[in-house]
Amino acid sequence: MIRCGNLERDLGIREIYVKYEGDNPTGSFKDRGMTVGVTKALEVGAKTTICASTGNTRSSLAAYSAKAGLDCVVLVPSHKIALGKLSQALIHGAKVLAVKGGFDDCLSLVKEISKDPRFYLLNSINPFRLEGQKTAAYEIYEQLGDVPDKLIIPVGNAGNIVAYWKGFRELKLLGLTEKIPNMIGVQALGASPVYKAFIEGSDKIKPMESVETVATAIRIGNPVNWKRALRAARETGGMIGAVTDEEILWAQSILASREGVFAEPAGAAPIAFLIKAAREGLIEPDSRVVCIVTGHGLKDPDVVLRRIEKPVEVEPEVDSVLENLSATITEQT
Ligand SMILES: Cc1ncc(COP(=O)(O)O)c(C=O)c1O
Repeated sequence: MIRCGNLERDLGIREIYVKYEGDNPTGSFKDRGMTVGVTKALEVGAKTTICASTGNTRSSLAAYSAKAGLDCVVLVPSHKIALGKLSQALIHGAKVLAVKGGFDDCLSLVKEISKDPRFYLLNSINPFRLEGQKTAAYEIYEQLGDVPDKLIIPVGNAGNIVAYWKGFRELKLLGLTEKIPNMIGVQALGASPVYKAFIEGSDKIKPMESVETVATAIRIGNPVNWKRALRAARETGGMIGAVTDEEILWAQSILASREGVFAEPAGAAPIAFLIKAAREGLIEPDSRVVCIVTGHGLKDPDVVLRRIEKPVEVEPEVDSVLENLSATITEQT
């Protein structure tokens, strides 16, 4: 975890940490579950793994399948593919098929196809994935010596929030901790069926047919684990929030420029929520907050390059360089 002293001062909150999952082998939290899931695939004698993916699942499954000597098939929505993630799946040798539809279509297809025992399904419906992912909750406990007051985490298919919740519940069952953090799930407003059910006080989500967000990893209209995600939020005194694309992109640059942490857009969603919630007084100033930054910013560099100023071209001369620096360098006192 990375302690975010600058954000603490900016937002007036006692303790803010980022659990930076971009540091995992393929650059996202998915590796935690995939190493367990692929081990189980080997155990049952599978030859081919399969998944639907908005991006990081396929990068991780392709890498772990390669290492295990298994074939890997991946179905991805044909639009809005983050190039970093696609290149990972391809270099690890996965067979990638681009489906003319969204993530939800891809998931229905792989669920159907994996009824055939030749294919071992590794989406987060696979319970072993969540067993791996819950270990992040143990690590937080180990590093803090306790659990935080609040955990803020992005929600797409809602597997990860459920995995953390399980990890924290187990720590309590073992008598290691007394409380479970308020679990706060964050969706992108353009793909927010769980958020809508939460604020309406409903026990059911209404799947969204058309979803849109710059945070492609959480661009999901019909999340598999919605029921348990709602329970995680409600039973822990947490909530499901939503943030706009503008708020996500703003948070991505704040996190990078104030804390030196580069998150992909979905990974910046918890920071976007934290900034908004702190301003609205929803986070008590003496809280200890952990935000889960789920994936590395290099996964989706296009999002950044599209909106930041390109480097200025200069002559290969000292004067030309200094001339272009006059507005930015700080005078030494
Ligand atoms: C970077 C990133 N953040 C968040 C999520 C959402 O996780 P979950 O689908 O478990 O809610 C994903 C899932 O693909 C992801 O890749």
